[in-house]
This record gives sequence, C-alpha cells and structure tokens, in this order.
Amino acid sequence: MPAIAIIGAQWGDEGKGKATDVLGSRVDYVVKFNGGNNAGHTVVIGAGETQQKYALHLLPSGILTPGCTPVIGNGVVVDLNVLFEEIEGLETRGVDTSLLKVSANAHVIADYNRTLDKVTERFLGSRRLGTTGRGIGPTYADKMNRVGIRIQDLFDEKILQAKVEGVLELKNQVLAKIYNRRAVTVEATLEELLSYADRLRPMVCDTGLLLNQALDRGETVLLEAGQATLLDVDHGTYPFVTSSSATAGGACTGSGIPPTRLDRVVGIVKAYTTRVGEGPFPTELHDDFGELLRKTGAEYGTTTGRPRRCGWYDAVIARYAARVNGVTDFTLTKLDVLTGLEKVPVCVAYDVDGVRHDEMPVNQSDFHHAVPIYEELPGWWEDISAARTLDDLPPNARAYVTAVEEMSGARISAIGVGPARDQTVVVHDLL
Ligand code: IMP
Repeated sequence: MPAIAIIGAQWGDEGKGKATDVLGSRVDYVVKFNGGNNAGHTVVIGAGETQQKYALHLLPSGILTPGCTPVIGNGVVVDLNVLFEEIEGLETRGVDTSLLKVSANAHVIADYNRTLDKVTERFLGSRRLGTTGRGIGPTYADKMNRVGIRIQDLFDEKILQAKVEGVLELKNQVLAKIYNRRAVTVEATLEELLSYADRLRPMVCDTGLLLNQALDRGETVLLEAGQATLLDVDHGTYPFVTSSSATAGGACTGSGIPPTRLDRVVGIVKAYTTRVGEGPFPTELHDDFGELLRKTGAEYGTTTGRPRRCGWYDAVIARYAARVNGVTDFTLTKLDVLTGLEKVPVCVAYDVDGVRHDEMPVNQSDFHHAVPIYEELPGWWEDISAARTLDDLPPNARAYVTAVEEMSGARISAIGVGPARDQTVVVHDLL
C-alpha cells in the first residue's frame, strides 16, 4: 500500500497526529505537505510512569518513529527558528532527528510576515480571522504573489539579498505607513535567515524526487495534512480558513506526488466537533454540554492554548469531507469522550431559513444561518478505553459508530478510545 494521505475532516485538531503515529511504525516516509507551525499535533507514547507526551508544531509526527524518514514538503511554510527549536527539543529527549528532509522549494516565514499577521489581525478588530499569529497567511500570500523566499534561496546569498531587498520595499511601506510599526532592515533579515543555512544544508533536497523514487521501490509514504478540510483555502469556510490546501488535492501539490499514486485517503473525524478561531460552526454548543466536551476532551489548542469551541458530531460536514477528499476510510477519534451521556445528538442535516439542506449550503451566508437538525442516539456508561476490537465496545457505543458511519459517506476503519498510541480499535487495517 504505497501512498496514503491523512486528512482532517472537520476544522482541525481531530487527532491526525496520533493516527499518523499509529501507522508511522509501518511506513518509510511521513510527509507534511501544507501549513506550518500553526498546526499542533500531540502524540502520547507509552502509559503510566513511562508515558511521554510530545507536542509537535512543524515537524511531521513520523519524526517519533525510529527508521521513518520525516519530510517537510514544498507546500509547507517553514519558520526556521521553530524548526531548529523543535529539533533541539526532541534531540534533548533522545529522539533521533537525523533523517529529516526539507524541500528546497518550501517557503520560509520571515520575521516581517509574523509581524504582519499579528498587526493585520489587530487592525481588523471584530472582523479578524482568529489566526494563530505565526505568519502563515502573509507567507502564503507572498508565495502566490511571487515575492516569497524559498529554502533554496538561503544557499545563494546574492539572490537572497536581491529578493529580500525587493520584498522589503513594499513591506516596509505597509508596516510603517499603515500599521505604524518600525521598518525592517535588509541586513537584519539577511542575518537571521543566513544564520540557519549551514545547519539546514544537509537536510535540503528535491523531496518530490525522493518520494517518487521511494514509491518506485514499493516503499510506503504517508502524507500528513495540517489543519483540515473546513479550513482549506478553497474548500473550507472561507474567509475563516487557513491559507493552504489542507485537502487530498493539496497532498499532491504540496509533496510532488501525483494524484494517480495516491492509494488511500484517510479522513480523521472526531466523535464530536471542535474549532478554534472565528467562523461559522452550526453544531457549536454554548451550554454545559459544550463545557463538558471541552473539559473531558481537553480541548485547548496545542499551538496557542486557546479553548476550542465544541459541539456535536456534524454528519453533513463529514459527508462533505468524504466527497472533497475522496475519503476511502475514516478514523473516528475520541469516542471515549462521549462516554457517560444519556443521549448523543448527531447533526444529520441543516435547516436554513425553513429549507432542509442535506449537503453543505453553497452560500456562506446560508451556512452562517444553518440550524442543525439532530438525531438523538442512546448513550453508554461503560468505560471503553480498554476496547481493542468492535466486540469490546458496549452495544450503544457500537450503534453510535455504525450510525455515524452510515451518515458520513465512507467506512470507519479505526476508532480512538483514549490518547495513547495503543488505545485504538482497528476495524480494517490500512496497510
Ligand atoms: P492561520 O492558519 O494561523 O492563518 O489561521 C487561520 C485559521 O485556521 C484560524 O481560525 C486558526 O485558528 C485556524 N487554524 C490554523 N491551524 C490550525 C490547526 O492546526 N488546528 C485548528 N485550527 C487551526
């Protein structure tokens, strides 16, 4: 089973890190293909006193699997300071990071883009997007505007200087005249970027070639999305989205692996829904149930620490994600968080101004008005954290899984019943 993409099916934080990590022990390459250090993967290894928790922002979770080559693809935007901080943090804890490869074509998040992200959000006030403030949007904007700085530019000082001079001409006008900030000097920018060049050089290569050659040899490549379908710049709840392609199409453009080589697309979907930042969220709960999901599910951002907005499972968006990505398998995560509820509501369709919608409304303003139509499923009280097969689940938990599977447009192949790597019910093996 050579190339598998792992995609978030909701608004992020579905537990992609663990899903990748679980498969990671059997794959040769794990590729991050979009986003940057706006992502946050928490991976828990072991249990009890030996339990280790790793919060990764930029590095693909395959970095924790011995023998697996982690790859930062061309579709990623790289904050070099964060990259080396994460590498050093892992090395200190005994994790070998020497296999890491970085695409020569990935773009670099420069200091002025971090500043612009923050000041733009402040300037927008109530119209803000709720970004992570890491410079992601401005760096992708530079990429599309063809004034971005790429990893390979760091190895050609003359070119780098010309590019930085060019881009700062405009940025400094914006920083100083619109946002009243100090202008950034070419020297300081060059000094910062070049300070990483020597350490970076051995990791940099044509990652598209590397990955295609690996597939030619029959090796397994896992493509790990940052963010998720509803945050995708094309298919998400625009403008409340991130600036990259977080869907299966992005797995191809962001890695250099062609669509015809993708064998499986795994959608990661939480047994309820969360979102951080602004934007529409039909099943959001503002009551005690929302608080319960947040507390029980520990729903606080890995990157920003922000409390996540929480709500019931939304089968309309799961179906949408199945369609947009061509999901072949879902992994349903955090089912254990729903334990102890008398009834578990699931959104099956929306009511938009008196009209039933079984699919995502095409107009954003309709989606803002969408009122969930719920079906209530019976809950369960039994502890499910030790379940490893479907038969270990209590009947109502099993019925919940079956119902959600029928509504969501693809089979459920794995179910998360706790945070640790082994707390997973495997229904169909993906490899
Ligand atoms: P940006 O990616 O920092 O530009 O933020 C744009 C939107 O995407 C905001 O609503 C963020 O909260 C959201 N976002 C970015 N990364 C993640 C993530 O990894 N999980 C969930 N939401 C995210």
